[in-house]
Amino acid sequence: MQEVKDYYDKMPYFSAAFADSSPVRLNAIGEFLNLNPPPLKTARILELGSSFGGNILPFAMEYQDARVVGIDISLTQTSLGNKIANDLGLKNFTLLQKDIFKLTDADFKGLGEFDYIIAHGLYSWVSDEVRAGVLAAIRRFLSPNGIAYISYNVYPGYSTFSILREFMLFAGQGKDDRLGVAKGELKFLSDYLKIALQAQQDATLKDTLKLMQTQLNFLQNITKDPKNDYYILHDFLENFNKPTYFYKFVDEIGKYGLCYLLDSDLGDIFSSGLGLFRFDAHIEKYYQKRVQKEQMKDFLLNRSFRKSLVMKKEVLNGSDDFEVNITPSEISRLYVSACLEKKDENFYLNNTLLNPEFNEIFTKFYDNYPQSLSLENFNDKQTAIYALLELISNQNAVISTKELKKVEFISGKTRLKPHVKAYFEYFLNTQNPVILLANHLNKKADFSKNELEVAINFDKINELNELENFIKDEWQIKDRREFVKTLFNKLQSGYFLTNVSC
Ligand SMILES: C[S@@+](CC[C@H](N)C(=O)[O-])C[C@H]1O[C@@H](n2cnc3c(N)ncnc32)[C@H](O)[C@@H]1O
Repeated sequence: MQEVKDYYDKMPYFSAAFADSSPVRLNAIGEFLNLNPPPLKTARILELGSSFGGNILPFAMEYQDARVVGIDISLTQTSLGNKIANDLGLKNFTLLQKDIFKLTDADFKGLGEFDYIIAHGLYSWVSDEVRAGVLAAIRRFLSPNGIAYISYNVYPGYSTFSILREFMLFAGQGKDDRLGVAKGELKFLSDYLKIALQAQQDATLKDTLKLMQTQLNFLQNITKDPKNDYYILHDFLENFNKPTYFYKFVDEIGKYGLCYLLDSDLGDIFSSGLGLFRFDAHIEKYYQKRVQKEQMKDFLLNRSFRKSLVMKKEVLNGSDDFEVNITPSEISRLYVSACLEKKDENFYLNNTLLNPEFNEIFTKFYDNYPQSLSLENFNDKQTAIYALLELISNQNAVISTKELKKVEFISGKTRLKPHVKAYFEYFLNTQNPVILLANHLNKKADFSKNELEVAINFDKINELNELENFIKDEWQIKDRREFVKTLFNKLQSGYFLTNVSC
């Protein structure tokens, strides 16, 4: 395993944050499915393969009574991640440099149980033995009602990426600059495909090449930015990247006493079919189990990636699947917040048109954003249930079991939440940050350096317009009022603010 450690020490993995793996979302899904998930306030969170900890640090900042631990083999990543957390003054966050494969009884006893375990970008990217170690560790660390999140590459969709990966490995083998050579050869392949697709007469071959071109375009969009070199090196040029079929994954976790709950995008509930009667009827008739149906969907939709939630088998009480029965009671446990767009009297969430029949409900979401709303907030419960379900089914809506408050500015009382100033200072003062700037829901927060420089003064002001004094002339900001208004909106919608009571 020394080789893997050296590789990640030399070329560390930029530590992004992933909303689908956020403990806030995992807890909300558990509540939605009536699984009695552990409360977040004092939850114990573990990330396996945590890199610099960017995916768990925003949660640790918000939930100071929770305990947040990351395990990663790379000392470069764990030590810098710990330094960042120390500089923020976080007391509930630790990254441990450990090989998951070599965790001992003493490690399991010493660290105790965890309520939410995240393994993002790990399972497919390690050897068979470490993969087994990941599942064994999840089984041993998970608390009785705990929920684990595992993401992994799946066939059939990943097949074409596997071919491109083999192409890059082949082209770069034995070369000092494997990355440069591999990128160059991708360009060569892309130039070739453009010409071949025009000249090729054989329709079958043409179709195959088109598929290759689509995946290649996707990859080239990533490779053109040198900031993504770490991703290419690890995902395409590293020893391990082993996709699996979903049903095989479910079999595998079963060997470790774990069972599949559903995918974090909630597709099992909300897009359980293809939406085409003839094909759905066929799947319904010939594939009875949910895992089989999901696998069929993967084949028919050419899926390449999954983000699965798993629990201990015991929660099934001897049955072989979860009973999913969504009633108004389950819906009423969730708060929902959604950044809707309004066009011609209709509402959209991430470019998806929402059913206009529920526009009255969506108007309330639109007007109150980023305030989260629940069934309680609506008189017409029946319509609200349908509208809420439509929002929950969209991954871009935020679901939580705790209200997310829209903080309005109050003179002298509105402040940055604890640790946010130091968190912003890290991004302001670091040329190449190793973590992504995200809020406690693991949603990316986009602030320019100038905005961060002004934002860190937030606690010094009593009136919002005083922030204008921190804008530097050389930035040549034409409308200072507008700059501050935009900044305030970003801070507000990222839930970075609080109103102090004294
Ligand atoms: C592909 S990166 C993913 C990082 C992060 N979870 C993400 O998705 O952005 C895989 C991470 O797993 C870590 N890793 C690989 N093998 C490991 C092992 N045997 N034990 C602990 N960590 C390991 C690497 O150091 C690296 O940080």
